[in-house]
Amino acid sequence: MTSQALDEIKIGGLGASRKRVEDNRFIRGKGSYTDDITLPGMLHMEILRSPLAHARIKSIDASKAWDIPGVHLVLTGEMMATRNLAWMPTLSYDTQAVLATDKVRFQGQEVACVIADDPYIAKDACEAIDVEYEPLPVIVNPEQAVAEGAPVIRDDKEGQAGNVIYDWEVGDADGTERAFAAADTISRLQLHYPRSHPSPIECCGSIADFNRATSKLTVYMTTQAPHIIRAAVALVAELPEHMIRIISPDIGGGFGNKVPVYPGYVCSILASILLERPVKWIEDKSGNLISTGFARDIYLDGEMALRQDGKILAVRMHADADHGAFFSDAQPSKFKIGLLHSTFACYDIPVAHLTARGTYSNKAPGGVAYRCSFRVTEAMFFQERMIQAAATDLGMDQAEFRRMNFVRDDQFPHRTPFGFLLDSGQYGKCLEVGLKAVGYEDFRRQQAEARARGRLLGLGISTMTEPLGAGNSREYDILGIKMFDSAELKVHMTGKAIVRTGARGQGQGHETTWAQIVSHELGIPAEDVVVEEGDTDTAPFGMGTYASRSTPVAGAAVAMVARKIRAKARRLAAHLLEVSEEDIEWELGRFYVRSAPDRGVTIQECAMAAYSNMPDGMEPGLENTAYYDPPNLTWPFAVYIVTVEVDPETGVWDVLNTVAVDDCGVRINPMIVEGQIMGGLTEAYAMANMQFITFDAEGNCVGSNYMDYLLPTAWETPGFELHSEVVTPCPHHPIGAKGIGECAAVGGPAAFVNAVIDAISGTGVRNIDMPLLPDRVWEAIKFRRDVSGAPPVRTDD
Ligand code: CDP
Repeated sequence: MTSQALDEIKIGGLGASRKRVEDNRFIRGKGSYTDDITLPGMLHMEILRSPLAHARIKSIDASKAWDIPGVHLVLTGEMMATRNLAWMPTLSYDTQAVLATDKVRFQGQEVACVIADDPYIAKDACEAIDVEYEPLPVIVNPEQAVAEGAPVIRDDKEGQAGNVIYDWEVGDADGTERAFAAADTISRLQLHYPRSHPSPIECCGSIADFNRATSKLTVYMTTQAPHIIRAAVALVAELPEHMIRIISPDIGGGFGNKVPVYPGYVCSILASILLERPVKWIEDKSGNLISTGFARDIYLDGEMALRQDGKILAVRMHADADHGAFFSDAQPSKFKIGLLHSTFACYDIPVAHLTARGTYSNKAPGGVAYRCSFRVTEAMFFQERMIQAAATDLGMDQAEFRRMNFVRDDQFPHRTPFGFLLDSGQYGKCLEVGLKAVGYEDFRRQQAEARARGRLLGLGISTMTEPLGAGNSREYDILGIKMFDSAELKVHMTGKAIVRTGARGQGQGHETTWAQIVSHELGIPAEDVVVEEGDTDTAPFGMGTYASRSTPVAGAAVAMVARKIRAKARRLAAHLLEVSEEDIEWELGRFYVRSAPDRGVTIQECAMAAYSNMPDGMEPGLENTAYYDPPNLTWPFAVYIVTVEVDPETGVWDVLNTVAVDDCGVRINPMIVEGQIMGGLTEAYAMANMQFITFDAEGNCVGSNYMDYLLPTAWETPGFELHSEVVTPCPHHPIGAKGIGECAAVGGPAAFVNAVIDAISGTGVRNIDMPLLPDRVWEAIKFRRDVSGAPPVRTDD
């Protein structure tokens, strides 16, 4: 490197804790969200939802609604059916009702829509629609779904005899059986990971604008995956794809909730086509909580075969997933239950077998990857709860049991018994950093002393390694569309640049970090690079942002396209310096002659030459596109350790300390990474402690408002101590980065639950289902029994 080299941190490159550029508008209230957009002549749509969870529709009388002044259109399932739009395909090869025709299958299901001059008229008109229902028996859990004589929820589907959607398995059943036969101890754990809701602050919404004169359909919408939506609209509505423009403006949080296609989108599009006016639909909070994609709701039952010295010999697991009324999970089509089989990946387990069954129920569909990579949260939660149970059964120390079973640093690349290939990690080191930070030995001493005085202290450890960055396209597709991503980079003649990707951030800071990657690769100051995402007419095709795939895939594409630009700039530099390309060296932001380092040209000078002084035969301009198909997923690793005190009289528990050690490879922006971890831990704490959304026996959604479904504020949220000492670069990512967005939300919940279970050790309680509400913890202590949170809940008290 010569003395002229730029200081990468100063120009906002890799490793700079650059302030988020998008915050300039967000904290001033200048963001532009879907609901901020008003188009000339725009009408408003509201949805009438079913009050019942399962009922036959006998009749719908909308005549009174049509009569209300200001009403332009009332859409019913019958009308949708005449256009073949009453049902739509889901992202998991099932079908989903857009507006109900035959039956309603969950409380909150879309039954009719009104389009009116304003949302208030539309809402009043919805209430004027008379729907006659004939109630049917209701199913709210998998046990009821497969019980003999259970009503068939999806009687619309030819050949659907019961409520089972799929049976799926992975692993080695015989080998696992043999390992269990040879075990000294078998440890078992059953639990329910409850339904939870991503609950973004901004609900879902769309503005469809069909222009008959140009035949162009423009849809502004809150989607995390605009190109997938464009493809879906083209296929479902049979509109030409080049005449569809999806614009995803600023998004007020997504967390997976804004990946699926919702009936509201479809209805607003049809209404705009019929009325030839823009139609806006903005969902309200209850609508969002009750009807949009939920997450989890899975019953996990597993066994671990153990040798007396603590070695894990095998794992056997069964999952029962409650998918609600339609199988609409947005996930790679090859894996019926997402990436649940990533469970136990960080442990060196010789053999394992997993079976999974999906069932319908009278609940809103979903299975969305709420801040996780397709059911990895459930996988990691079960893993770490099971590890704690097994260590307890063996009478072993929690930390020691993990340490001895981790995949060691010298075992990479490591193939898991379910077929994943882990490429790198320092699991033991992360654990040691965490234990030291929390003062493990000291805490154990304090815990014993406190116990002697009747106080209940507990410590919970959780680790996670998450497969982030779907594709590769060999294995990952959604509806047959292969999973990869893209970036386009245009360097203007003055050296300023614009980068566009197929991802779509929802608050993660892409506008800041993508510019940092360009800066790292080209030496252009990050402040000279603008980032644009979310418009299908301008962004290159991509699969969108969810499952923490942006950095592993779109971020990699940004690095790769910048390298293409650098390769062309090198030829321009050779031309400007009048030497051959082989004689040119690169340092950040500058090419120079190897034999005369003072003779050089900056990247900005090369950019100017690309438009004003290119060599003969060279195509002018300095822009390119890269499509990136990753060779593998990235595998970040983390250790979360939580200490708590539980009040034995009330079951209330307080967090004393939370330590997080995250290894996400190279950190592009350490400050943003810390923000992601804090957000994830906050959600993990909320899931473990307070978020309660469930169903009674009639299928009524309990917790469909923010009085019951609690979002933690800064007041409730405990402090977190973050550690970044361990960095294991991803060997196949161009800049060594691994995903981080979801890690803490994925790995965090088990640390909180393990801490509470540890605090009440000695009672014989193996499990309390989340959320660990005080009454559940109190019941566990008082009656020395496990407490289930599975629906139906009692409503008689
Ligand atoms: O896909 P999503 O953006 O939700 O998740 P991500 O790829 O893990 O990135 C979340 C944010 O953290 C983005 O702004 C990333 O660029 C940033 N990040 C980082 O600075 N360093 C990493 N190693 C990983 C992510």
